[in-house]
Amino acid sequence: MKKKILIAAALPYANGSLHLGHVAGLIGSDVLARYFRIKGDDVLFVSGSDCYGTPIVFEAEKQNSTPSSIAEKYHQEFQETLIDGMNFSYDFYTKTTSKEHHKTVQKIFTKLFNDGYIYKKTENLPYCPSCEKFLPDRYIEGKCYLCGFDSARGDQCDNCGNLMNTKELIKPKCKTCENTPKWKSSEHFFLKLTSLEKDLKKWVKESKGWRIGAKNFTFQLLLQGLHDRSITRDTLWGVPVPIKGYERKKIYVWFEAVCGYLSASKEWSKKIGKDKEWEKYWKNKNAIHYYVHGKDNIPFHSIIWPSILLGYKNLHLPDRIISSEYLTLEKKQLSKSRNWAIWIPDFLKNFDCDTLRYYLIANGSETSDSDFSWNEFSSRTNNELIGNFGNYIYRVLSFIEKNFKEGVSFSDDISPQSHKFLALAEKTFPKTSILIEEGKFRKALQEIFKLAEEGNRFIDNAKPWATIKENPKKAEKDLAVAAHIVKCISILINPFLPTTSEEIHIQLGEDFSDIKWEYPLNKKIKPSKTKPIYKKIEKELIEEELSKLKKQSTEK
Ligand code: MF3
Ligand code: ZN
Repeated sequence: MKKKILIAAALPYANGSLHLGHVAGLIGSDVLARYFRIKGDDVLFVSGSDCYGTPIVFEAEKQNSTPSSIAEKYHQEFQETLIDGMNFSYDFYTKTTSKEHHKTVQKIFTKLFNDGYIYKKTENLPYCPSCEKFLPDRYIEGKCYLCGFDSARGDQCDNCGNLMNTKELIKPKCKTCENTPKWKSSEHFFLKLTSLEKDLKKWVKESKGWRIGAKNFTFQLLLQGLHDRSITRDTLWGVPVPIKGYERKKIYVWFEAVCGYLSASKEWSKKIGKDKEWEKYWKNKNAIHYYVHGKDNIPFHSIIWPSILLGYKNLHLPDRIISSEYLTLEKKQLSKSRNWAIWIPDFLKNFDCDTLRYYLIANGSETSDSDFSWNEFSSRTNNELIGNFGNYIYRVLSFIEKNFKEGVSFSDDISPQSHKFLALAEKTFPKTSILIEEGKFRKALQEIFKLAEEGNRFIDNAKPWATIKENPKKAEKDLAVAAHIVKCISILINPFLPTTSEEIHIQLGEDFSDIKWEYPLNKKIKPSKTKPIYKKIEKELIEEELSKLKKQSTEK
């Protein structure tokens, strides 16, 4: 039976280009989508650009622009980077400024308000009389009462890490005009997490198949107990509160962004001309929903979004939370402000997308942090991707093309080694299936690479370049086995390295549009146009990249 699989990849903030850290946290979503599709399930893979929130307003001020044009600019860039550049196979990629998103969010907000899961409360908040606006945490600076640092922010001191209450800042100043803020009361809307806590706990306890990091962190938060959270802001940029008299307030970015998965699903339905199609994913107990994102996103997907859904009722809750730990760059924390980052558009100018996909998956931060270093990138590409994997495919296919003009045919009477080798390949399908479905992409990729490693050993032992002279029949039999394994690899590798998979299909003369996740039938294989799949990475290029990184950053 076909299953309905929703893959929900985090919506990146449209306030700057994407760097390695972003893609590292998201790459698993495309692996899942591609895998389930060729396995024959119905997949809906959605994401979009997260266009609201203070960071975008900041960026607009910095670039002397408006939030809406900044959001639009990066939304366009994200589509190029993720879809054309990284080859992410979304069924729908939206943006939170879309009409459908506003409609969806406001509908959810209204229902939760009417049902008592959202309520109003008056609070005292910092307000700048000269700018005539309430100040979000990041708009207030002052002295940290702990370490004395002069430009601590309203929510946190960047010098000592102290998390604070805006009220505790010494000599607070409005960041825009430097005047002293006043405290003024303002009404806000709160999400009543305290009344959803019981149901939420039950759901978390019963759910299976989350990344361990997501489970542990969520349990910790639940242990501390939940508090109601304010979900509206006094700002111009955001989704308006849909309650009469409060339209000038905006819905807090995290509350509305997570609704983006649902709005994207609805927009997709409209696009394909079946307005109700989204319900097959969202109003279906048997559907499976995967959420893929980085570590800092966990509570919004394991607590806030499920609470919203529990309050809203009748929509499918998350099943698998696939959160990644952090990626560091040359062992240091990535930083946008210090420009300690590798920006994906830059990266793709010099390197193939599959080399990056390979590195980020093979070295994925699935259970602990991992690091990107240029030297490691070059050695993994040259030794593993090219030296082992690419080499196996190329040596088998090019040898056949050169020596067997009619291709090679399979025969039943093959050596015990051949039988063993084929059995290994056949087993690799169910084995990697389980790993992928559990979000263990790194291990799954290892299994496939083991097959290529085994293949190299098989060819070294079979020595077709020698047997072709003494016993051409045996050479053909061995090569047919070896080529059949190449065919298996071309399928198995598809979710991970789609361009590579297509290239191998072409060289094998196989129909790529017909690809299915199953052990293929043995048949005659007649390769053509064989060539190495990847270009070796030269040392000079890596040295250039390293010095570029050091030059661009203000890191000492
Ligand atoms: N914009 C957030 C980030 O980049 C992620 C939002 S995910 C969503 O960290 F579900 F809220 F949309
Ligand atoms: Zn001010």
